[in-house]
Amino acid sequence: MSETSPRLRGALDGIPTYKPGKPAASGGPVAYKLSSNENPYPPLPGVMEQAVSAAGVFNRYPDMACTGLMNELADRFGVPHAHLATGTGSVGVAQQLIQATAGPGDEVMYAWRSFEAYPIITQISGAASIQVPLTAGEEHDLDAMADAITERTRLIFVCNPNNPTGTVVRRAELERFLDRVPGDVLVVLDEAYREFIRDSEVPDGIDLYRDRPNVAVLRTFSKAYGLAGLRVGFAVAHEPVATALRKTAVPFGVSQIAQEAAIASLRAEDELLGRVGTLVTERDRVRRSLIGQGWTVAETQANFVWLRLGERTLDFAAACEAAGVVVRPFAGEGVRVTVGEMEANDIFLQVAGAFRKEA
Ligand SMILES: Cc1ncc(COP(=O)(O)O)c(C=O)c1O
Repeated sequence: MSETSPRLRGALDGIPTYKPGKPAASGGPVAYKLSSNENPYPPLPGVMEQAVSAAGVFNRYPDMACTGLMNELADRFGVPHAHLATGTGSVGVAQQLIQATAGPGDEVMYAWRSFEAYPIITQISGAASIQVPLTAGEEHDLDAMADAITERTRLIFVCNPNNPTGTVVRRAELERFLDRVPGDVLVVLDEAYREFIRDSEVPDGIDLYRDRPNVAVLRTFSKAYGLAGLRVGFAVAHEPVATALRKTAVPFGVSQIAQEAAIASLRAEDELLGRVGTLVTERDRVRRSLIGQGWTVAETQANFVWLRLGERTLDFAAACEAAGVVVRPFAGEGVRVTVGEMEANDIFLQVAGAFRKEA
């Protein structure tokens, strides 16, 4: 056997592999997974039926153009087909957006901490990550981000609400920021948690993209629509960007099962958004309870809460796990806790209360 191994791109050195949220332990008395911002509800019966029926033809490749889903999305959002592109989850579309815009010598900017895939997909492209710290209030510092733009900047992510803090960027500040970004820099409004927003000052990215050719919006079926396991997300962007997304797509990336389930989910929107309403009520209860226990919790408009615990992060996560809920620790920084079933949220709150008293 040869001693040499295939030469891999140096850009991959040191890339942290994406860490999925830890699964709930099996075998214990209760185990709830609050580590991946998933929807805790099982698939709706109608959606399940469509997925099962599509499974009957999985010997065939899916419709590569996602025609049915594109028609549904075009109607639902009032955008032309040419402005839509689907992908394997919105993280897949995010990676395609970087592939389409940035490479070695270029810069991709985003707030930090934000969605943990951004540094990974940026580094894979060979571009440099420019991470602009969140403010003390855990919010995007859009002025600092605008100041950090250089002639090498190609793409800027604005995660709204931000993962993992849940904080939002409001209309006036976002418009001011967009006005400062040069027209040849793509701004990606990552709205994975859009449906959980109740603050009317938060703009809908799809309104903002319409007269701004350098703005793209990312949405997903993984969160509010409950299809995380099927991997389907999409972008709304002007034609040159959407066309570039079709070029960078993995052929047949979105399965027919995912396409049919996404269509059925859009048609079952009332029921699904009713569930989202319940989660929002729970989110607000969880945050109020934490504040009542003495925690500082940034206002969240997503389906999770963020506790900045610093050095106590891993101890806190271990205490949660011992009590039957798995949360998402970011060592040395804090934990992100998805709002789940009421019983799961209650267990988390009990641990948080006890931890607070010990501290
Ligand atoms: C901000 C943000 N964007 C995108 C995604 C990716 O979601 P998906 O690839 O399942 O659409 C996530 C998932 O956690 C997220 O938090």
